[in-house]
Amino acid sequence: MDSTGISFTALFTGHVWYENGMSAHFFTSPKARLLYSAAQPAEKLSQSLLGLTVHDMLLQRHHIIDHRIDWLIKHEGVTQILEIACGYSPRGYKLSRKYPNLKYVEADLPHMAERKKALLQQHQGFGPDHHVVGCDVFESGAPHGLDYIMSEVLDPTRPTIIITEGLVNYFRLSDISQVWRKLAQLGKSFPKAWYITDLVPKPKQNWLPLIEVGAGMLSLATRAHVNLHFKGKAQIEQGFKDCGFSQVTVHHPEQFREQLAIPRFSPVGRKPSAKSMVRVVECQIHP
Ligand SMILES: C[S@@+](CC[C@H](N)C(=O)[O-])C[C@H]1O[C@@H](n2cnc3c(N)ncnc32)[C@H](O)[C@@H]1O
Repeated sequence: MDSTGISFTALFTGHVWYENGMSAHFFTSPKARLLYSAAQPAEKLSQSLLGLTVHDMLLQRHHIIDHRIDWLIKHEGVTQILEIACGYSPRGYKLSRKYPNLKYVEADLPHMAERKKALLQQHQGFGPDHHVVGCDVFESGAPHGLDYIMSEVLDPTRPTIIITEGLVNYFRLSDISQVWRKLAQLGKSFPKAWYITDLVPKPKQNWLPLIEVGAGMLSLATRAHVNLHFKGKAQIEQGFKDCGFSQVTVHHPEQFREQLAIPRFSPVGRKPSAKSMVRVVECQIHP
């Protein structure tokens, strides 16, 4: 499956991380700033119609994923992370400095992986055990298949987290569930493993037409099949269990309003408005 059309969206997310003090300057670029500015009229419209923006949803998911990773490192002894579809995510750059014993593998389509590698090399961004590899989640075998990376690049003796952020809604459920099945199966070779992803479920009926217009526009721009796969918590849990994950937890931003500086739900100064749309799904994989 050719999903290269999705790659440019990483410019937008990369710029959001930088704008919000979560990333290094070298992960953004004039092209990323231009894309971010071009999206502002649509963001303003979304704010006035729905009470929330893509910008806020991105920050909600990123903060929650970071928080859960930190918790799993501190309480479950995680020492290895595979971040699939890493784009310009600053996580590998930051976490491999914060936790020098962590093995951090970033993976993305080969052309994106090359760009990320070049940026990290140019700016002395690599941590002590920090790698970037080419990967297509729909491929098998060396050098870019998920099976090859999980069995030959990762260390099978380490408790491991596998992350996808900003990826799964670009694919039909029938396609992305094949990837989830593979992850659930391959994850069993580690002493302990977790899969963490964000997703946007189908919203309530009154929002649906607007969201469908947005998804249609994103599908056109990325040549992908932007999809909202599940209707709510129960369907999400069942969907992931059907793919072989044993324990599934669905986190929503409102749960973290006291702990994290999450837009709209932060305790400091902001009024909670519309309900959040993004969810972070955390699945445990038993060996
Ligand atoms: C919306 S960006 C998200 C980037 C990053 N995770 C973030 O949150 O900033 C989507 C990323 O998915 C990557 N991607 C698209 N198709 C992929 C595939 N088949 N396998 C691996 N990565 C893919 C793109 O290259 C792009 O970097």
